[in-house]
Amino acid sequence: MASQKGLMMETLRTIAARRSVRRFKNQPVSREAILRLIDAARLAPTARNLQPWEFVVVTNPNRLRQLAALTDHGKFIADAPVCVVVFSRDTKYYLEDCSAATSHLLLAAAAQDLGACWVAGDKKPYASQIVSLCGAPPELKLVSLVAVGHPEEIPSPAKRTIEDVLHWETF
Ligand SMILES: Cc1cc2nc3c(=O)[nH]c(=O)nc-3n(C[C@H](O)[C@H](O)[C@H](O)COP(=O)(O)O)c2cc1C
Repeated sequence: MASQKGLMMETLRTIAARRSVRRFKNQPVSREAILRLIDAARLAPTARNLQPWEFVVVTNPNRLRQLAALTDHGKFIADAPVCVVVFSRDTKYYLEDCSAATSHLLLAAAAQDLGACWVAGDKKPYASQIVSLCGAPPELKLVSLVAVGHPEEIPSPAKRTIEDVLHWETF
């Protein structure tokens, strides 16, 4: 069994290695792997433990194409084997809660050597069309769409350094 320290190092390595992946191999993602993504997402922190999220897993190629076509910066969803659409009940902290869930989902993908990319949902003009395309109740809010698949690329966007972002005690 992995030691506590080993687990911690593995978690931090996963966080350090995660990158947004927008090109995927033509290879399905197993049902078990998808279940692990949703299981991680549902365990995210949530204000007053309201857990306002609902997750729609889309694997149907035609529906993936329809989702992609509705977005402005998510056309690559059409070529992903999976898209997890994150919806929320309209609570005070729905955006924070479902953003935390989306981050958990991205990390669970990285932990399984899957690639994933967050595509914007909240505030987008296409949100209500995605709600109806997914057959979700009309009062739900779209927070994100997460394309998932076996990575065909590992991008390395520049990141601000710790020295740049860290302020001890005061700014
Ligand atoms: C709220 C939010 C919305 C995003 N929307 C999109 C999007 O619509 N399309 C896209 O390709 N990437 C999107 N991204 C991914 C960012 O572009 C990406 O996280 C950023 O460039 C940093 O790269 P990294 O994730 O590899 O660290 C989004 C990320 C966040 C947090």
